[in-house]
Amino acid sequence: METAEKKQIVLSAIQPTGTPTLGNYLGALKNWKTMSNDYECFYAVADLHSITVRPEPAQLRRRTLEMYALLLAIGLDPEKNTVFVQSHVNAHAQLAWILNCYTQFGEAARMTQFKDKSEKHPENVNVGLFSYPTLMAADILLYQADFVPIGVDQKQHLEITRDIAERFNGLYGDTFKLPEPFIGKAGAKIMSLQEPTKKMSKSDTNAKAFISMLDDADAITRKIKSAVTDSEACVYCGEGKDGVNNLMGIYACCTGKSFDEITAEFEGKGYGDFKAAVAEAVVEELRPVKAEFDRLIADKAYLNACMQQGAEKASYFANKTLRKAMKKVGFYQL
Ligand code: TYM
Repeated sequence: METAEKKQIVLSAIQPTGTPTLGNYLGALKNWKTMSNDYECFYAVADLHSITVRPEPAQLRRRTLEMYALLLAIGLDPEKNTVFVQSHVNAHAQLAWILNCYTQFGEAARMTQFKDKSEKHPENVNVGLFSYPTLMAADILLYQADFVPIGVDQKQHLEITRDIAERFNGLYGDTFKLPEPFIGKAGAKIMSLQEPTKKMSKSDTNAKAFISMLDDADAITRKIKSAVTDSEACVYCGEGKDGVNNLMGIYACCTGKSFDEITAEFEGKGYGDFKAAVAEAVVEELRPVKAEFDRLIADKAYLNACMQQGAEKASYFANKTLRKAMKKVGFYQL
């Protein structure tokens, strides 16, 4: 008799706000791929989240398709994993509304990302930006996720998700699984190449500060060669060596080497050799992704078919949890 072992569940999502950076890749996407072999995975393009900054409609459509293609290009198999677009699954917005009513104003107001974004864009502090974490909680809780692979900047949103789920479960009995963040050791926070105390971000006005996942080999090499380091010219991980620590993290993620191994490898060598090795490792890491992206983006019919299938699979799982939550709250059932 066949014994179907139940796999643990993983969910994560990424916003279609432009080509993701090496930070997105090493902090999150690379782990998505690794986890996809051992877990039942749900991966979403978080287009609902992305309208908090009101993108131009044609651009949002194009970026959604490109982000979807990129997720397949990193090696996610759409047959084995459920890869979908968030707005194609109605349950996300529905559960988010319910969770809004179980989230306190004060706890949402404490989110550092909300505070940062409202400070940066005082002209558009919309309610969507404020309730962003409850939509993220809905994304996660709908799939009863055990693990959520993210970079460190999303950790607080995971914590509020757990708080909301615990509160709901406390009121109505077990409804949602409490998810754990999965944060890699080396890539959890990839820093800007120009100001290595700041997170690498695609919205940085200085293009030399970040590597985009679709940058070509020349651009990658140029940016890493001009990365800010220090005057010590000695490769080790230490205090005040933010630039070198960051490059070591990048190299560690791409090669699987430990920090000690990296220090040993570059003993007696300067930053020129080190940067050349880091650049080569990043180029090799991203080369197949870019080639596969170029191939996939030309096949819109295939991407649409995968999206359709992903939406159906995701809806099936998500609606089960949504129905359960709605029943517990007391919505009249037909
Ligand atoms: P987003 O789209 O900003 O980023 C996607 C993922 O990339 C990680 N990340 C980084 N990791 C390391 N170093 C960096 N410099 C770096 N920059 C970004 C992020 O931590 C994230 O894991 N709200 C989320 C998207 C989302 C989501 C979800 C995530 C929507 N629903 C449910 C998990 C579960 C966001 O804006 O990520």
